[in-house]
Amino acid sequence: MSILLAIESSCDDTSAAVLRDQYLLSNVIASQEVHRRYGGVVPELASRAHQQNIVPVVDEAVRQAGIELKEIDAVAFTRGPGLLGSLLVGVSFAKGLSQALERPIIEVNHLQAHVLSHFIKLDESTQTPQFPFICLLVSGGHTQIMLFRDHFDYEILGQTIDDAAGEAIDKAAKIMDLGYPGGPIIDELAQKGNPDAYHFATPNIPDYDYSFSGIKTSFLYFLRDQLKDDPDFIEHHKEDLCASIQNTIVSFLMKKLEKAVLKHHVRQVAIAGGVSANSLLRQRVTEAGRRHGWTVFVPQRKFCTDNAAMVGIAAYFKYLRGEFADISLPPYAR
Ligand code: KG4
Ligand code: ZN
Repeated sequence: MSILLAIESSCDDTSAAVLRDQYLLSNVIASQEVHRRYGGVVPELASRAHQQNIVPVVDEAVRQAGIELKEIDAVAFTRGPGLLGSLLVGVSFAKGLSQALERPIIEVNHLQAHVLSHFIKLDESTQTPQFPFICLLVSGGHTQIMLFRDHFDYEILGQTIDDAAGEAIDKAAKIMDLGYPGGPIIDELAQKGNPDAYHFATPNIPDYDYSFSGIKTSFLYFLRDQLKDDPDFIEHHKEDLCASIQNTIVSFLMKKLEKAVLKHHVRQVAIAGGVSANSLLRQRVTEAGRRHGWTVFVPQRKFCTDNAAMVGIAAYFKYLRGEFADISLPPYAR
């Protein structure tokens, strides 16, 4: 039996979680509100907020888990990729705590953690993926189709050559002045809109790669044209615009994912990362699973966006292998 404390601080969420083996005991997330008024994450403010949040968040995670600090067998943390100043807060805290408790540290890659979140068990009935499986990882910083043969043995089948899917959604929201982060706002407004109201061209990219910067640009130019005739165009067609841009992005994501899964004859398919919280993507991947007879894994919404539970589960599989990190280890941004 192992008890792990995990810390995530790669971007703008400060999070701590406690796991007993594969089972989640607590997962506390402090989302930083300071960035909203800037319409994006301000790195300098993010590290300061992590510095303020980290002790209370860890305390709360330990309290909710009903454990004592001395019961912890190892301290895990996100090493990268992410914002360096933000990562440093979590890395330094984890190292300090591990020294004080005389326990080892485990470093975790943020992207692997997003995918491995599917192995978190809430109770005995939780179903987890079997290898091999394909995961579409879609977040604010990454868009990748990954083939997993084992927990840490994977191949990137395709990825974006420019913007990430989440980045494109956030930028579309910014163009419409909807607020930050745009993903959840567009998701919500799209529920009331017509997804076929407008069409935005998707680029012809070979194999399983993606490109989102052109979609964003064609959306921008389309709006510019419309605004010339009707200055209130966005206000009047907000729902349709959200539904249409979301439909464009999700359909593109699904097209490549389906192609990759069929080509590799894989029967287990997962989505992960912040954009996997999107209602339309969740619906589409579930439908595709039904159509093709795949077993589909859609994470609970709280495990889609950044959280320490996913760091803890990734660390658990490293703990089983005895893969501990050196105390001098630095974080990495990319
Ligand atoms: O994984 P994540 O929390 O952070 C990164 O590692 O990047 O992903 C954040 C991204 C943002 O772009 C956000 O707009 C997007 O996930 N997102 C969504 C939804 N919820 C979060 N995108 C579409 N629909 C949502 N419901
Ligand atoms: Zn993330």
